[in-house]
Amino acid sequence: MTNSNNRSATHSIHPMFLDRWSPRAFTGEAMDRATLMTIIEAGHWAPSAFNYQPWRFVYALKGDKHFDALLGTLIEFNQGWAKNASALIFVISDTLSRPADGSAPKLSRSHSFDAGAAWGYMALQAIHSGYHAHAMTGVDFDKAAAVMGVPSEYKIEAAIAVGKMGDKSILPEGLQAKETPNSRKPLSDVASEGTFKA
Ligand SMILES: Cc1cc2nc3c(=O)[nH]c(=O)nc-3n(C[C@H](O)[C@H](O)[C@H](O)COP(=O)(O)O)c2cc1C
Repeated sequence: MTNSNNRSATHSIHPMFLDRWSPRAFTGEAMDRATLMTIIEAGHWAPSAFNYQPWRFVYALKGDKHFDALLGTLIEFNQGWAKNASALIFVISDTLSRPADGSAPKLSRSHSFDAGAAWGYMALQAIHSGYHAHAMTGVDFDKAAAVMGVPSEYKIEAAIAVGKMGDKSILPEGLQAKETPNSRKPLSDVASEGTFKA
């Protein structure tokens, strides 16, 4: 049993897994580039099939010229709170496996799985660095592809808002009520021995 961040895990795990959560109230303060790169670096050390490293990261720091353009690709709801993030990172994956021996590229089975691992690593590094990361698929993906210049064989997986947690009073009332770490289904609902359980 592990308790942290007002959450309880049945089995004993590192508390960082409970400490990572997805707040929407960010302070909007500036973040230094080295800290942002530390978080992205952590993502880059995720494992991937054949070590193809299919992830790509497009980022902008608040106050820099690209921030508003990237923010503008989020759906309005997400723009409302993510505007106070200190940085935005888009996680993109290469849908093609490109073997190092130069043989023909083929469809990758695991590009999203691998990129998801990279997001998880970044989220944990963010906590370790004193920040929080909040993933979003509430994105206008066509607009995002155009703004970032993403070729069609790459998939934009998600956007991530990174920032210092702020006071929930800066959020609209409806969101203030939700601004608290949530829980999980019982582990037995999602883990089964030997055969699949829906
Ligand atoms: C792939 C993905 C997409 C998400 N999209 C959004 C989003 O568009 N807007 C939002 O406010 N939260 C979004 N979330 C946050 C989830 O709602 C949140 O991670 C989930 O409720 C679990 O809560 P926790 O991260 O605090 O543990 C997203 C999370 C993930 C992983």
